[in-house]
Amino acid sequence: MQTVSDIKQLRNQVANWRQQGLKIAFVPTMGNLHNGHLSLVDNAFMRADIVIVSIFVNPMQFGQNEDLDAYPRTMEADSQALAERGVNLLYAPTVKDIYPRPLAEQTYVEVPELGNIICGKSRNSHFRGVTTIVNKLFNIVQPDVACFGEKDFQQLFLIKRMVEDLSMPIEVVGVPTVREESGLAMSSRNGYLSDEEKQQATALYKSLKYARDYIKQGHRDFRHIKQAMQTNIEQSQMRLDYVEFRDANTLLEANHNTTSFVVLVAAYLSSARLIDNIYFDI
Ligand code: PAJ
Repeated sequence: MQTVSDIKQLRNQVANWRQQGLKIAFVPTMGNLHNGHLSLVDNAFMRADIVIVSIFVNPMQFGQNEDLDAYPRTMEADSQALAERGVNLLYAPTVKDIYPRPLAEQTYVEVPELGNIICGKSRNSHFRGVTTIVNKLFNIVQPDVACFGEKDFQQLFLIKRMVEDLSMPIEVVGVPTVREESGLAMSSRNGYLSDEEKQQATALYKSLKYARDYIKQGHRDFRHIKQAMQTNIEQSQMRLDYVEFRDANTLLEANHNTTSFVVLVAAYLSSARLIDNIYFDI
């Protein structure tokens, strides 16, 4: 596996593969890789000849009081895991490579409306940072296919929308959430939790399954369902940020006519902010 931080060097290699007629898939990450990330890599290999992974902890998507400095950086272990998986190229730029000028002067890409709801409401300008970096990475790597996790449902939705709105010739693929045996969605931020807290965090997925089953039974009293989920989550020592019931095809609020649901949840547990979701048709 080659590891590259220089844009020119990356472009030369990609041009070389293209000349050979090879199809290129891309998996952007912020590192500290777990089986969720690696399942994106496996999925990418099913769709292309070459797989490029990026590791870049993107300062533009972190709020002022968020965990940019504490975010786990484990380049050596990550690089080894990717090499073992057969990844062809690891793109690991520095902040200066990506943002040579101050962030406040950086041109940005923003999906209006949908970037400011759900997680965007609690994380002001977070999604602007995400769509801007993904846009930049797409321009640098120019892949045919890019894989993203359904764990970050709104992120995946916004990237699909950006690609459509800006006519980018890239197929965006969603990959199912990989979970621990306990049901806890794998996340780099789980590393902030003790074993006991990881057990408490399983309340998130349990409450999502409860909501799914209840809605599937025909109930539509979302306020009541939210209340029950909140009680459950708070009994597990977490502080609820939001529960949202949305149409999975539009991300607009679910109503009595909705047939494709996504229920999304975010909660704080000690220093971690955890998110999860479940989607289903009725
Ligand atoms: P990061 O949190 O490192 O996640 C990288 C990719 O892995 C995302 O597409 C995310 O949805 C996916 N992922 C994370 N946990 C997963 C799990 N348990 N199962 C399946 N997929 C999972 O998301 C980001 O980085 C950044 O916002 C990024 C897109 C790289 C832009 O900076």
